Amino acid sequence: MTAQKQVYRCNVCGNIVEVLHTGKGELVCCGQPMELLTEKTKDVGLEKHVPVIGTTAKGVKVKVGDVPHPMEAKHCIEWIEIIADGKSCRVFLKPGEKPEAEFEIKPQKIAAREYCNVHGLWKSG
Ligand SMILES: [Fe+2]
Repeated sequence: MTAQKQVYRCNVCGNIVEVLHTGKGELVCCGQPMELLTEKTKDVGLEKHVPVIGTTAKGVKVKVGDVPHPMEAKHCIEWIEIIADGKSCRVFLKPGEKPEAEFEIKPQKIAAREYCNVHGLWKSG
């Protein structure tokens, strides 16, 4: 059974989907089960992926990570999302852009997730 907000990837074609409504079925793409991406929360090694949540005059800024993550086509942060009070908001990023996103939302109890096209799904908060 799936759970809301889970993220799955097809390891054949690269499709990535998020669950908006749970169901009993197994998610399948390209003829095989999709991989459930686990939300990693602890950096190991030199590369930093755990989202860093800070405040700005208008709301919050999320950076990946405390040392900026590479933003090259072969290795970049594809999106950054915040989840607060049952609302979620996501910014999609392109290679060459900064690995960060600003959200006009009151700083409160906020969780942030990001997806690296090489190292997967990460979460903080
Ligand atoms: Fe990475």
